Amino acid sequence: MKSTLYAAAACFLLLGCRTGTVDQKPKSFSSFDSEAKALVARMTLEEKLGQMTQPEQGPVMASPGDMQKYFIGSVLSGGDSDPQEGNTLEAWTDLYDRVQTEAMKTRFGIPVLYGVDAVHGHSNVLGAVIFPHNIALGCTRDPELVEKINRITAAEVRATGIQWTFSPCVAVPQDIRWGRTYEGFSEDPELVATLGEAAVRGLQGNLGDPLSVLACAKHFVGDGGTAPSALPIPGAPAAPGARLWLDRGDMRVDESTLRRIHLPGYVAAIRAGVGSIMPSYSSWNGVKCTGSHRLLTEILKQELGFEGFLISDYNAIAEIRPDDYKTSVEIAVNAGIDMAMETSHYRRFFDTLKELVDEGRVPMARIDDAVTRILRVKFAMGLMDKGRSQLADRKLHQVFGSDAHRAVAREAVRKSLVLLKNESRALPISKQAARIHVAGKSADDIGNQCGGWTIRWQGQGGEVTPGGTTVLAAIRSSVSPATRVTYSRDGTGAEGAVVAVAVIGEKPYAEGVGDRDDLGLDPEDRATVANLKKARIPVVTLVISGRPMILGDVLGQSDALLAAFLPGTEGRGITDVLFGDYKPTGKLSFSWPRANGQLPLNIHAPEELYDPLFRCGHGLTW
Ligand code: BGC
Repeated sequence: MKSTLYAAAACFLLLGCRTGTVDQKPKSFSSFDSEAKALVARMTLEEKLGQMTQPEQGPVMASPGDMQKYFIGSVLSGGDSDPQEGNTLEAWTDLYDRVQTEAMKTRFGIPVLYGVDAVHGHSNVLGAVIFPHNIALGCTRDPELVEKINRITAAEVRATGIQWTFSPCVAVPQDIRWGRTYEGFSEDPELVATLGEAAVRGLQGNLGDPLSVLACAKHFVGDGGTAPSALPIPGAPAAPGARLWLDRGDMRVDESTLRRIHLPGYVAAIRAGVGSIMPSYSSWNGVKCTGSHRLLTEILKQELGFEGFLISDYNAIAEIRPDDYKTSVEIAVNAGIDMAMETSHYRRFFDTLKELVDEGRVPMARIDDAVTRILRVKFAMGLMDKGRSQLADRKLHQVFGSDAHRAVAREAVRKSLVLLKNESRALPISKQAARIHVAGKSADDIGNQCGGWTIRWQGQGGEVTPGGTTVLAAIRSSVSPATRVTYSRDGTGAEGAVVAVAVIGEKPYAEGVGDRDDLGLDPEDRATVANLKKARIPVVTLVISGRPMILGDVLGQSDALLAAFLPGTEGRGITDVLFGDYKPTGKLSFSWPRANGQLPLNIHAPEELYDPLFRCGHGLTW
């Protein structure tokens, strides 16, 4: 029976004919309580604490005996946490199997939940299909497509055995100077809720089927609503030379604003049955979300009825009281944190929490509640099913990075492209044009196309991953045999071409490293477009960036302008539109400012102050 199910599911994926729609309403997590509570009743305090402790794979597998000694219930690979043997599909799968085998040697043999940031495809693993980042998916405004993308991501993640992704990010970024803007679907809470819900449905499917993964809505709550600060948060990654910090900052708004702008994504994710939620590093009116009983227990668990578990962010607990770790743990767990991402400090977390329980500073009832929540999710996922192998199903390797998956990513790229300007019919370009001149730092750069959270935590320019197509390669493979495609990075030498295509924008970054106070295009990009303009031919500019950029002269110098945001590996989705095989349909998921001085600028500004270059929702076609 099991093998038939696998075969049928794999066939669906291989043929690319799965609709991606989940027809069954998910079963509530609390319906697994009798099994979960019976197990909790038999566990020692140490066994319980182990379920609540999540180390990073590198540190814990350096002493694999720790998996049993600390009864570890979950492990993660964060950014840059590749298998020691190298970044290959085989090595990732072997690592998962090794971790799982160690975990299951304990008395109860409770399987480990392995978590990873598969935030736009299985984006740490070489050769995975890299989908557009959420900011671009927001421009598609297509929940069915987002569900399908996440179904595929789940299958590629399961191919490595891993059963949990720290996504979707349902942040509602209100200030595009924030380095995590591109992780959010939109500045519009309604769109975030619709697409966040679709992502959870896609990832979790009918949770418990072998092609589903556990989703994690993050970062609860208001990570995208922080006020700019002149000082960085101690210990937080920050851009060298930045003068303004937003990441991990403080959201200074009243509760009704929090509910109106930042909460709807969580309400929707819970409606879709999300099994885990990650509290934010950031604060709300000076109180760290990771330590807020009001947010985590009163609002999320009691009022919204969230039945899954809360996983703290990467070493976030220590940021509650930077000078007092023990009090930080006490505050976090009593506030409602159920599992702690304590990457290399897992022993310290385990020992500290044990002391706190022994001293009565954290009640046993809170521990039991946390472990019940974790175990009910494990039961719901089928991890506790007797006789079901918890090792990776390597048959799924055949769907990893497959053409069928790439075709869906290509569809997402073309549907997310937003046409912002098209004068003198510069677009579409004829495939028969005698010569097309391509230029710009991102024209032949798959790493820039993919952005942060791609293979490396910060992403990386250049050939960051095999497979996929750069814009230049996609142009070359689209045109007629008689067409000459020439290229210069700086835009010189375009004279005599029928049309020029400039591909410019941002280089990869992630988290606070991407906080910026100046969103102007860099001098290299401005020079590229100016050089093309001198050739007196139509210029088509494509902006590849994690957020809207200040265009300056480039807007006037471009006859046509398209925003691609961070499209991922499938550059052919861009040429689908450039050459007119598909009409542009994308609509901006964020407001596009005229100047830095307008920032922050978003749809929540009073109408008289809302004066963007292009409104959120804007997008032309032909
Ligand atoms: C990020 C999270 C991520 C976690 C694990 C943190 O730095 O804030 O979004 O899930 O790392 O990699």
